[in-house]
Amino acid sequence: MPRSSDVALSRAAGQPKVAIAIDLYDWHARELTAAFARAGVTAVPIRLGHCGFDTGRPHGLVIPGFGTDVPGLVFVRQIGFGTFESVTLRLGVLHSLGALGVPVVNTARAVELCVDKAATSFALGIAGVPTPPTWTVQSEAAARQIVRREGGRGPLVLKPLFGAQGFGLKLVRREDDLPAWEEVEGVYYLQRFVAVERDGFRDIRLFVSHGEVIASMTRHASHWITNVKLGARPEPFEPDAEAIDLALRSAAAVGADFAGVDMIRDAADRLQVLEVNSMPGWRGLQKVAPFSIADKLVSSLLGRIARGEARAAP
Ligand SMILES: Nc1ncnc2c1ncn2[C@@H]1O[C@H](COP(=O)(O)OP(=O)(O)O)[C@@H](O)[C@H]1O
Ligand SMILES: [Mg+2]
Repeated sequence: MPRSSDVALSRAAGQPKVAIAIDLYDWHARELTAAFARAGVTAVPIRLGHCGFDTGRPHGLVIPGFGTDVPGLVFVRQIGFGTFESVTLRLGVLHSLGALGVPVVNTARAVELCVDKAATSFALGIAGVPTPPTWTVQSEAAARQIVRREGGRGPLVLKPLFGAQGFGLKLVRREDDLPAWEEVEGVYYLQRFVAVERDGFRDIRLFVSHGEVIASMTRHASHWITNVKLGARPEPFEPDAEAIDLALRSAAAVGADFAGVDMIRDAADRLQVLEVNSMPGWRGLQKVAPFSIADKLVSSLLGRIARGEARAAP
């Protein structure tokens, strides 16, 4: 294997060629490609499911669309669905690109920490970011014990460990509300319910890129689960210094350069961080933002290249 400094960065007419890892060529992929084009940069959609390894090649990787080069930067929009093995391999490709000195946003490590809600809660907890008390256990007996012990103080929220977009969340008030072990894939992630109804329910989504909050909204719903995919309405929101500070600390806690941070005001009106998304979409957010979020995102991504953070040289 060559040293990382020997690996050629892909360039089109002097500009770095960027890869956008996607699963589907959807609205987000189109927005990003167009924003990169407006910035004069060629962005090539790649599917991590089509990537692989080849020890006979100088850089040891197979990245369709890049030949013997590696991308100047990889923006990870989607990893794609697959078996445990194929998802591990895709993360391995991202880890390896990082090891070659290619800026990968977000890094495989950040994606791993955010996909696993227990790992996110742990990272937030040890970073001192306010987050509701959370317990993760692997047996029904242990989950029952937590509900017996904590249930008297109010309901708990059971979330799928790898969940997203509000799917599969359930309020647990008593032991019998707990699903069977098989139904939770062997993991019970239980969190204190901290929402308060104030003219329906609201949570806050802040969009962080490279140490800056670039857009934000509240999501308003009649139901306590306030994901846009489940019908919540995005509303414009101007975050205060506390919300901005929490969002930046949350992203830093999981090592995410780019993140969608969800938070909520509890009964004492304190902000609590619920989760950090390492591959957040921004379609709902774009409805309330008076500027192109993709343009802002691309300009902060290109700042990485301009600052020369790619260690590999052409
Ligand atoms: N601990 C909690 N207390 C109250 N509401 C919650 C809690 N956790 C999640 N919610 C609600 O459910 C939504 C989805 O939860 P979240 O943790 O963000 O998972 P997902 O990955 O599915 O978006 C949140 O936006 C919020 O409205
Ligand atoms: Mg969420």
